[in-house]
Parts: sequence; C-alpha cells; structure tokens
Amino acid sequence: MNFINEPLLELRRAPVRETLVDALAALDAQLPLRVPVIVGGDRRDAPSFESTDPGAPDRVVALATSATTADVDAAVRAASAAAPAWEDRGAHARAAILSRAAGELRRRRSTLAALAVRECAKPWAEADADVCEAIDFLEYYAQQAIALEGSNGLVQLPGERNTIRYAARGVVAVIGPWNFPLAIPCGMVAAGLATGNGVVLKPAEQSPACAHAVVEALLTAGVPEGVINFLPGEGDVGAALVAHPGVHTIAFTGSGAVGLEILRKSTELAPGQRHLKRVVAEMGGKNCVIVDADADLDDVVPALAYSAFGFAGQKCSAASRALVHERIADALLERLHGAVEALLVDQAQRFGVDVPPVIEPATQERVARYLQIARDEGARIYQPSDAPEHGHFVAPAVVDGLPRGSRVAEEEIFGPLLAVQRVASVDEACEIVSDSPFALTGGLFSRDPGTVERVSRALPVGNLYVNRHITGAMVGRQPFGGNRLSGTGTKAGGPDYLFHFVEPRVVTEDT
Ligand code: NAD
Ligand code: ALA
Repeated sequence: MNFINEPLLELRRAPVRETLVDALAALDAQLPLRVPVIVGGDRRDAPSFESTDPGAPDRVVALATSATTADVDAAVRAASAAAPAWEDRGAHARAAILSRAAGELRRRRSTLAALAVRECAKPWAEADADVCEAIDFLEYYAQQAIALEGSNGLVQLPGERNTIRYAARGVVAVIGPWNFPLAIPCGMVAAGLATGNGVVLKPAEQSPACAHAVVEALLTAGVPEGVINFLPGEGDVGAALVAHPGVHTIAFTGSGAVGLEILRKSTELAPGQRHLKRVVAEMGGKNCVIVDADADLDDVVPALAYSAFGFAGQKCSAASRALVHERIADALLERLHGAVEALLVDQAQRFGVDVPPVIEPATQERVARYLQIARDEGARIYQPSDAPEHGHFVAPAVVDGLPRGSRVAEEEIFGPLLAVQRVASVDEACEIVSDSPFALTGGLFSRDPGTVERVSRALPVGNLYVNRHITGAMVGRQPFGGNRLSGTGTKAGGPDYLFHFVEPRVVTEDT
C-alpha cells in the first residue's frame, strides 16, 4: 500500500496565510450558504434551520433544509436502489472516484478550511488538518478496498477451492458530529462507498455546510446520484434513519448518550426486516495523561496544555484529567498555570489562536456547571484569561484539589477544563484509568522504558500516546477509536475498519 498523509499547510509562511485570509473573505461574501436535502440527486431547498459562527453568533453561515420523515424514507430507498450497480463497478473503479473526490477537496482546500473556521470556530491549523484528514480517509479507504477485494487468505487443499468475498452490506447510515465537520463524516461515508454500499449522511445540525461541501465534492467526482444522499437536520432525523428497516449499517460518531440510544434502537426489528443492523459507534472519553516523577516538564507542560485546551478542549481525544506523581505535582501546576496564562483566547480566524470560542452556549453552560461543582467541592480553580465578550468563549481552566470520585474528574466535559490530581505512583494512576468506564485516548510521560512497557500493557485505552500530546491521530499511522463506553472498538483510519462495512461470503468448490 502506497499511502502518504496529506501534508499540512505551513502556516508560518505569509503567502500561505494570505491565501487563507482571501478564502475567508471570499466565503464571507457568499454567506449565508444554502444547504439542501439531497435524495437521489434531487435537491430540496426550503431552509428551516441555520448554522451560525460561534465567534459572532449573529453571522449566519448556512441556511439549511431539515429532512422530513418522507425524505429519510426516500433517501434509504434511493441508496438501496443505487447500491448494487455501484458495488458491481468493483473496488478499482470506486477507488478512482473516491480519489478524484480527494482531488476535489485538495482543489477547494482553502475554502473548506475557511468554512470550518466560520461554521465551527476551528482555528486555521485545526481546520486545515480537518481538510487533510478528509482527503486521507478518501485515499486510504480507496486503497484498502482494493486490497480487500483482492484478498483471499483461506487455506486450500488439493481438490478444494475456497474463496472469500467481502460483499457490501447494503445501505450505510452515517451520523456525524460537528467537531471534525469535514473529516469525520467524510471518513465514515468514504468507508461505506469504498466497499460498495449506498450511503445516507445525516450531518450534525451545527455543521451542515461543511458536510454539504463534502457531499458535493463526491458528486462532482462521479459518485452516482442515489449512491450518496444527504439529510441535514436535528437528532430526530438521525433517529428516523436508525429506525429505518432498509438500513444495514449505522456508522455513528458522537456522544455516549446518543451512541447508546442508537445501539439500543438498532436491535429492534421492523416488520419484514430480514437483517441485523450493525453499529459502528465512536463516542466520548475522559482522557487521562499520566505524568511520572521522572518526566521532563519541558515536554509535559506544552503537550498537556495543547491536548487539553487546543480547539477549546472540544475533541473526543482531548486531555481532561492529568494524574501527576505527587513529587512533581506542585512544580507541574506552577508551570501549567504559566502556560495557561500564555494561551491566546480569541477568534478562530486569528492566526496563532489557541482557544477559540466553543460551539454553542450549551457548552459554556456545561463547563460553568462543572466549575461550580469543583468550587462546591472546595477545589482550587485557575482560570486566568480574559475571554472576548462577543462569541461563545470559555476561558481555559485548571482545577486541582478535587476529592476522589468528583464528577469533574470522571465525566466527559468536552470543553477547556483540565482536572489535575496527585497520585503516589504510576501504578495508582493506572488503577484510576482502569476503573474508568471510558477508554478512548491516554497519555504517559515517563523516561523509564520499563514503565512505558508496563503502562502500555495495563491501560485499556484505544490510543495511548507516550511523551507527546494525545490528540491528532493520523490516518494509517494511528488508527483511531476507543473501547469500553468510548466506542465499539473500531479503528477509523486503520487496516481493519472496512470489515465493518461488508459481509464475508465464502464459496467452497470441489475441483
Ligand atoms: P451528539 O451525540 O450530540 O450528536 C452527534 C450526531 O448524532 C448529530 O448528528 C446529532 O444530530 C445526532 N443525533 C442526536 N440524537 C440522535 C438520536 N436520538 N438518534 C440518532 N442520531 C442522533 O454529539 P456532538 O455534540 O455532535 O459531538 C460531540 C461528542 O462526540 C462528544 O461526546 C465527543 O467525545 C464525541 N466524539 C467522538 C469521536 C470519536 O471518534 N470517538 C469523535 C468526535 C466526537
Ligand atoms: N481523530 C481525532 C484526534 O485524534 C479525534 O484527535
């Protein structure tokens, strides 16, 4: 396999930054964008909800049409009808189209990054990484699907020929989150398409324009009408899709509460339904970074600050709990406070910003609720920055001195709040992590290879990062996804992800 990650933009170069500024100005001149329902190639444009700029909530980014129950039914039927011919084209032909779609995203790279800046307040570096990851998913799954189609690892005996074929399952319902508004929906859609399924995408209500841009790129690249369908709307549209008897696979990324609801609903058989729905669910985390007494604080502090507060902590992979050896906890806290003070809290479009506004007022309220719990529990709160008045800002906060069992240390907050707790040993930290119902990402800072080996084996997390930041998994290099209540154990951007979108069929022939 010849896969290379799409190179990130070099934002330190002035001409690169100028291109992005121009792209943002051009995008602003077009706002609000229209986001239609797309079913079988037909577009229905009758706006009923909007997405807004988290940094300037009076700026409407998109006017979107919410899908109706009839649209959901029509989309599943369209995907079902179009899927067999799409599958029959074979993996090479499908891969060529997905690769062309990646080319479309490359061509529109600055505009797409600008859209993620405006619709989700992603800082430029994060927005660009989101575009690159979307491109990576298209190229990677295209190549993986070709490999899957050509694989036959079965044992053969004289007089017997065994073949295995990975057939498309049928219709994939993709339900995405807003925080990687391009890459995550694109990745799940690409997996479904590469393996020959028909796809219906329900994007997050906060980011319909980003998802729409991905769908238009796929259609422009030659994905046939009906093979990809698009249903903007709120959670009820996702719920109707999950319940539809024509759906075979549900690829979901989002919160644990919704993921569990989808898993529950997916087991209900509708009258006449003759298949089991399969659910790929990637959900939230409470990601811990363990810092041993021998850790180099020059490495720890910037990596921890970036992991906890980059994109205002709104990544499922973000660090939200640091378990620090008691011998160095005071030194680490002092330096972490300094690092937090130096964070730039400002609008996403400002180059170099660390903490942009959060997506919506509900996030501000949620973080405030957890800070109040910390206060009530007698914890120390360090929250120095002056956040801008306008926009949904939350100043980054470090909390320490929480009692054991505090909800602040154990629940996903999904905002710029880091709980720091002291531990007597790395083993105690491992026990704390192992007691958590979440197992998404984790981090370890240690200079002892024996400790690294022991902790790597002990922790149940899906992605452990040693002596570095804990966000930003790269397609093909760090297959991403969690265990326990963080997900169904599937690994996006990894060599076995596509197996979830196919059904294996074996033929044994006497020869
Ligand atoms: P969310 O669960 O609120 O929404 C995700 C999607 O589900 C949206 O499209 C929403 O409209 C839809 N939805 C809501 N109710 C539904 C229902 N009853 N049935 C079907 N669909 C429904 O999540 P969010 O706020 O968009 O994203 C943040 C969450 O996602 C965090 O918990 C974060 O940790 C998680 N996340 C996980 C990963 C991962 O790879 N593990 C990646 C990104 C985000
Ligand atoms: N894949 C994203 C990351 O690793 C969520 O940060």
